[in-house]
Amino acid sequence: MGSSEKSLTGKALLEKIRSDFMGLDTMYLTARGESSRRVYLDSTASSLLLRPAASVAAEFMNHYSNTHSKLHHSAHISTTAYHWAHQRVLSFIGADPEIYTCFFTGSGTTGGINRMARVFRDVHPHKDTAIVSIMEHHSNDLPHRKHMKNVYHVPVEGLNENKMCISLPKLEQALIKGAGRVAYVSITAVSNVTGIINPIHDIARLAHKYGALLMVDGAQSVAHLPTKMFHPDDPAACIDALVFSGHKTYTPGSPGVVVARKDHLLAIEPEEVGGGMVERVLEDRYQVKTAFPDREEAGTPNIPGAIALAATIEILDRIGMPTLMEEEEKVMQAAMQGLKAIPEIIVYGGTNLDLCPRAASISFNVSGMDHGLVAAVLNDYHNIAVRNQCFCAHPYVKEMMSEDLEAQFGIIDFGNMSPEFMRKAGMVRASFGLYSTLEDVDLLLSALKDIIQNAEVYNREYEVNAENDYAHKSYKVNNEDVFTIMAAVDRYLSK
Ligand SMILES: Cc1ncc(COP(=O)(O)O)c(C=O)c1O
Repeated sequence: MGSSEKSLTGKALLEKIRSDFMGLDTMYLTARGESSRRVYLDSTASSLLLRPAASVAAEFMNHYSNTHSKLHHSAHISTTAYHWAHQRVLSFIGADPEIYTCFFTGSGTTGGINRMARVFRDVHPHKDTAIVSIMEHHSNDLPHRKHMKNVYHVPVEGLNENKMCISLPKLEQALIKGAGRVAYVSITAVSNVTGIINPIHDIARLAHKYGALLMVDGAQSVAHLPTKMFHPDDPAACIDALVFSGHKTYTPGSPGVVVARKDHLLAIEPEEVGGGMVERVLEDRYQVKTAFPDREEAGTPNIPGAIALAATIEILDRIGMPTLMEEEEKVMQAAMQGLKAIPEIIVYGGTNLDLCPRAASISFNVSGMDHGLVAAVLNDYHNIAVRNQCFCAHPYVKEMMSEDLEAQFGIIDFGNMSPEFMRKAGMVRASFGLYSTLEDVDLLLSALKDIIQNAEVYNREYEVNAENDYAHKSYKVNNEDVFTIMAAVDRYLSK
């Protein structure tokens, strides 16, 4: 980078990097026999890789060393860079390093939530209950069920244009009912199904008012909107722990991230033990480090992944999250307006983005068509990659679809589902990232119009396979012609 490029910030930097992601120009052959650009609308599952971050990580690899080594040059460089990565995350999310620490764990949010559920349980051994909402991803539900004795699921707010965000009055009722027993509340900042944004600082105030801690699942918020641990005017509105995934923050291959209050972590022995987190080990005892993050990172960490993620975060921060959010809102507005204008489309959750703000995701169905068929046609004919089914959020999807499903199937039992029911019980999700464009939205909308117009034709061209998915009867792609590890190894070795 030249010095003039170095100083690019804000929108100018966004314009420069928004097309610099790996996979934006990936081409596939469609069922029409044409090769076209894949339109990636599955960023909520995993976002594409920001190329400059990958380049920084590749450059770092010239100096790679284990951060537990000490006295050679590479050890110094690696240790300094890895330390910087932690500090960078903390400042990105407004976490005072005196109060909070950041540590990397696992490959995403799931590992961090499991870890912090055990920490919060052990910090308050006399409390046996966690509160979550029914809009959570399974990764912010099952860990609490496993590690806590009781888990209460707060309903969503169905009023106000069928909003589908967490009901604060019902959360308060649950906190009052569980007074003295609720160790913590764990809530997603943004739904991975509807993209609906929860008021995490209001939730923190409520949790703290009743003596509970607050953990926030930031998997869908950190890359899309300003997400802060601190509330400048109100200490009660601060968050006790935040967890997010590097692979959803434009850095696939990077670890999961936990930011948590040091005093909670210091109150108990770290959940994971091994090399790197101890001062002294004798045969009959060991002494755990008090220094963060070492204490929480047993074993050799994913150093290159953390460095790539820190590079991404540096770039996101130079753009500024408010700027980035504003730009993504334009794409969300266009998608929402376009979807609402098609009468055959059912959008789930409140559709007035002023009353019901969302980030990144919109889930919908095409009336009279199964979600799997719509997703398959989008892929096969239009080269548009979306996710379908229940997005690891069964209770929330059930809440939004139960009326429709009951009309078709009578009383429904999500625990005992026929293949036909499964083909109906689900949605199609279009999700966006900072590289998503208004052109991508137009392509999605015109593809959906085509699908609606030609529903009968498409229905005839597909059959349901053994996995209960829609498979085209004649268009068969051998994706191994496109990529295999072996072929790629051969290609690089023969250069
Ligand atoms: C809201 C939310 N929480 C948790 C997770 C789990 O994240 P990971 O798969 O990175 O562990 C996801 C993944 O989609 C998610 O969307």
